[in-house]
Amino acid sequence: MSPTDDLASAIHSRERALVDTLTRWVAIPSISTGTEHTAEVRRSAEFLRQEALEAGFTVAEVWATAGHPAVFAERIEDLSLPTVLVYGHHDVQPVDPVVEWEKAPFEALEKDGQLLGRGTADDKGHLVMHLEALRGYLQARGKLPINLKLIAEGEEEDGSEHFQQLLIDHRDQLQADVAVISDTGMPAENLPALTVSLRGLAYWELRVETASTDLHSGVYGGAVLNPITVLAEMVAKLHDADGRIAVPGFYDDVVAPSQAERAEIAAVPFDEREFAAQANVVLGGESGFTTAERRTVRPTMELCGIWGGYQGEGSKTVIPARAAAKLSTRMVPNQAAERVTEVVEAFLRHITPPGVRIEFEMISNGRWVVSPTQNPAVGAAADVLAEVWGEKTRYIREGGSIPPVVSIAEELAVPCVLLGVGLPGDRIHAPNERVVLNQLFRGMQAVGRLWERYGEMGKAGLSAPPESPAPGPPV
Ligand code: BES
Ligand code: MN
Ligand code: MN
Repeated sequence: MSPTDDLASAIHSRERALVDTLTRWVAIPSISTGTEHTAEVRRSAEFLRQEALEAGFTVAEVWATAGHPAVFAERIEDLSLPTVLVYGHHDVQPVDPVVEWEKAPFEALEKDGQLLGRGTADDKGHLVMHLEALRGYLQARGKLPINLKLIAEGEEEDGSEHFQQLLIDHRDQLQADVAVISDTGMPAENLPALTVSLRGLAYWELRVETASTDLHSGVYGGAVLNPITVLAEMVAKLHDADGRIAVPGFYDDVVAPSQAERAEIAAVPFDEREFAAQANVVLGGESGFTTAERRTVRPTMELCGIWGGYQGEGSKTVIPARAAAKLSTRMVPNQAAERVTEVVEAFLRHITPPGVRIEFEMISNGRWVVSPTQNPAVGAAADVLAEVWGEKTRYIREGGSIPPVVSIAEELAVPCVLLGVGLPGDRIHAPNERVVLNQLFRGMQAVGRLWERYGEMGKAGLSAPPESPAPGPPV
């Protein structure tokens, strides 16, 4: 056996253990949104702490935050070796509508090479991939060629409010030469990819009030403004007929994709029909841009929820006093949440009918990411993915957001490698979330080889200056 074969087969031998560990972890409903599952998020952290120790980390701690706890683990081999910090999150999204799940969301179901369940892809699967890769590596070699640290956040799905502070408080312990962020995906099973950009996010609630109490719709109807109608008219004005965001000033800081960037995006195979068919969606968006561009390098304005008035069975003749909506924007370079919030609020106030009271509140925000591909740590990751998948690695842009990436890059001053194995059909955040097990299995192999490669490169090789200047602003 070649030196890589024994590593590959040791890691391969961890595949069933991966499924088993992930299944047990999925059973802990670590929903970070709201306060209902606070104890479960804690249990999830404790579970990970224990598993990390069993996998071969020598230190594993639950770190309290002002919100949900994070987990830190490390295995220091030798301080002269490079140190890698792996980031993931152990919290998950809510599971409603529960009736649409094939099986209960926290009872993982293995089927056709997939594992269904909340958190299987986003993001517990990725963390277990790292744990089992470590265990396999140690089985084969007894020790790592790098120092390995892990930070698993407990409130990524709820806006990462306390993550930056956590990094500041534990800066010394988290010190590393490179961060590997495992919370992204690839365009298809046969297209290995590293993510090079993510969009930012600002999330708001808009509340409209037209009366101090609900009203009889016959006694008042016809003579008063209805808050649902007002809200509907207001949010309908956020886009124009071309699908552009109609808020004055919204595009002021948006950097349009360059011709080169558009060509790069077009070069990544993207089957628009399959994309549409996967969730039976109706395509639409900003004119002048392709679907691939619309979902990655263009900003958005989306309604995520809207409510008001009677929603129960039968009828209730009432004009509600209030209506409200949750809305959000995905931001791209060089937009900033504060500025976008300002122009959106100014616009909403401008179009509010006289006398109507509105409240506009920012709930969370996170910055966009552009990461330079010339970094040697990124190049090595691209190489190992190509080796394992047997295909050239693509650099892709993703439309989702991972606010902690910017915090990690800034607070710890490390390059970030966005290495994830999710797939477009994973239904993350939706009913029947799943992960393709072979993606996690290949991911484990890639991780094992990556540690090998980083060890060979050494601290000096990892910090080598990029061959040419970064394409965009640093992360
Ligand atoms: N893992 C996702 C982000 C993601 C999704 C990256 C798909 C690449 C492809 C992450 O857990 C997530 O859902 N982030 C939230 C951020 C928000 C809650 C602040 C998002 O994008 O909505
Ligand atoms: Mn995630
Ligand atoms: Mn998510």
